Formats: sequence, structure tokens, C-alpha cells
Amino acid sequence: MSLAGKHIILGITGGIAAYKSALLVRLLVKAGAEVQVVMTPNAKEFITPVTLSTLSGKPVISEFFTANTGEWHSHVDLGLWADAMVVAPATASTIGKMANGVADNMLVTTYLSSKAPIFVAPAMDLDMMAHPSTTRNLSLLRSYGNHIIESRAGELASHLTGKGRMEEPEAIVEVLRAYFSRKDDLAGKKVLITAGPTFERIDPVRFIGNYSTGKMGYAIAQEAAGRGAEVTLVSGPVSIPAPVHPNIRIVNVESAQQMLDACEEVFPTADAAIMCAAVADYAPVAPSAIKIKREGNEPPVIHLVKNPDIARALGAAKRPGQLLVGFALETDHEGDNARAKLQAKNLDMVVLNSLRDAGAGFATDTNKITIFTADGRTVPFELKDKRAVASDIIDTMLSL
Ligand code: C5P
Repeated sequence: MSLAGKHIILGITGGIAAYKSALLVRLLVKAGAEVQVVMTPNAKEFITPVTLSTLSGKPVISEFFTANTGEWHSHVDLGLWADAMVVAPATASTIGKMANGVADNMLVTTYLSSKAPIFVAPAMDLDMMAHPSTTRNLSLLRSYGNHIIESRAGELASHLTGKGRMEEPEAIVEVLRAYFSRKDDLAGKKVLITAGPTFERIDPVRFIGNYSTGKMGYAIAQEAAGRGAEVTLVSGPVSIPAPVHPNIRIVNVESAQQMLDACEEVFPTADAAIMCAAVADYAPVAPSAIKIKREGNEPPVIHLVKNPDIARALGAAKRPGQLLVGFALETDHEGDNARAKLQAKNLDMVVLNSLRDAGAGFATDTNKITIFTADGRTVPFELKDKRAVASDIIDTMLSL
């Protein structure tokens, strides 16, 4: 799942987004990859080879020969060494050269020699991006089987706003991770996932909530999509970045009621639902339309009503063939509580995490789970990072 031991050529071209390449190298190396940077001559105007060679731990290649020694850099060997080549940022010029075989620099010759999968992250001004020649060249690259990591809309170096920003380095790494970890055992399946907390409004500025960050649910969404599922991620308010995957649709909600409404719409056509959200159990009966003031008032008494139990509602509606997975976050009597939830909510399995385990639960990047299945199994797992935990959850779900 990580990029451990993967040989990655990072091709950098002469666009302003090249300043982000340093971070990209750093993230790739951190994910365990060996990175060989190949720059076009123009790219060196935007970021120095010293920065990139220091971060990658390898001399940057830019010319066909090292000037003082005459040493030839074999684009053929390089192309064969690579497990993947990523061109980020890819300018309109380099995209045009790649599409048409104009091999006048080390980057394009390496591209033409490589048998590895190619990932291209375009970055350019909006008018260049929209030009028919760019559109045609990108579709040529697609037709060669290259993966285009679409640029985003936003403010550009020209201060104009439109499509042309290079995808963020974190997301590019995620695309590579997804590529190398792809299993397609969820291909064609529709999976509904809830994540994050819910906020229950007290007044326009206050709410009842909890410490859920959404990390576990987002990791499950990423993993499920990476395995081919079409994912609907119904997310409560979180401040972590949205998962990037063409097969993930995000529905943002705030309250338990909104989360229930979104789930009821999607569940009838889903093959599986994984209820990872930390739904608030209670909500204020009558949220105040205006801010509750402190001055001169007695402390307010907030009357609560029970929120709908989303997992239970889906459990009641579940038809044969659908799988429903719930979570249990417990502080005591963990096993008994988890098994009770399995029954009460008509779940097919429950993922238990205990706040008594270090590294488990809210806000951490790791989790330690035990899975209880409706067919009577109890499966404990080691402490792992949440993406690996997500993989275990999906593997166990598929065993049902
Ligand atoms: O009963 P408890 O809240 O501990 O159950 C946890 C499981 O039920 C989780 O899967 C959670 O997402 C789900 N749940 C829900 N709606 C609620 C409360 C919990 O879907 N109102």
C-alpha cells in the first residue's frame, strides 16, 4: 500500500508550479519511494537542482551528458529502472512534445523509452489549458494509456482564475499509492460510507459535537475506491482534506438528521454500507434562532431529543445481499457492547475500537480494532495506520 521500494522518475518542467515539486519529492521519499528527478532545462529557472537532489538523495538529471566528464545519461536504462514516471508539473510544451514524440530533451526521451505507467499532472494558464491543441495532446496521451492527473480550478500564477492549477502533491502521491495498491475486488460495487462527527445546533454559533476527525472513514473511502468501488462518502463537518479519487462522491452534512436523509437516499442501491460516523446521540429540541446571550441570563437549560440511529434504520431496511458494517467505540465492557450492537442494529459486522488502547480512536493516524462478525467470528488486529486498518475492514467484510 505504501510506495516502499518503488522506483519513481519525477519529471519536472518549466512552470511556476515547479515550486511544489520539492514537496512532492519529499512526500514520495517519505512514502518509501526511490526518486530520480529529471528536469527540463527550463525547469531549472523555477527550482534549483540542488534542492531536488538533496531531497531525493540522487543527482538530478537534466542533460544527455554531464558537461565536464562526458558521462552519458542513459534514458533507456532510466526508463527501464522506473516503476512509474510522474511528470509534475507538465507544461503545455512538454505535453505537446510527449504527445508528438519531440524528443529534444532528457525528460521526453526518458518518457519515450519508459515501459512504466506514466502519470501527467498538467499545470498552465487557463487559456493554454483550454486551447484545442492542449486538449488534443492530452487526449493523445490518454490514448497511449498515460494517466492524466487533472489540474484544478483556482487562482493561477497570472492572477486569473480558472482551470490549470497543478493537483496538490499530497493528492499526486495518493494517486500513485492507489495505483500500486489497486486490488479490484470491489469493482462494480456501490459502497456507502459515513464519516466524521455530527454537529447538533444549539444556536447559530454553538453546537453539540464530538472529537471525531473523519480520518478513519476517509481512509475507508479511499481504500474502497482504490479497490474499484463506487463510493458515496456522507461526511459530517471535518477539517481534514477530502479524499481525491474519481470514484468518490462526497455528500457534506452537518446534523444526524441530514446524515440519515443522505444515507436513506443512497442505501437502497448500495451493495454495502460502512457506518463510521460518530453520530451525536442527542440534539437540542429547539435550537435558538438567535445567539443565546450570557448577560443577565440564568444558565440556559438545553432540552435534548434522541437523534435517529442511522445504522439501526439501515439495518431495518437491509435487503438480502446487502452488507452493513457498524463501529463501536467503547471505554468498558468492549466485547459485550460490540456484540450487542451487532444484534440490535442488524449489522453484519462491528468494528470495535477501545479508547483504552493507546493509538486507537479519535484524531490519531493509527487504530487498533477487533472485528465481530454476525457469523460468530472475533478477529483481533494489531495497531496499524488507518489506511491499513481500512484494508483489514474491507477484507473482513468481503469474507462475509
Ligand atoms: O450505539 P452506538 O452509537 O455506540 O453505535 C455505533 C454505531 O452506530 C456506529 O457504526 C455509528 O456510525 C452508528 N450510529 C448511527 N447513528 C446514530 C448512532 C450511531 O448510525 N445515531
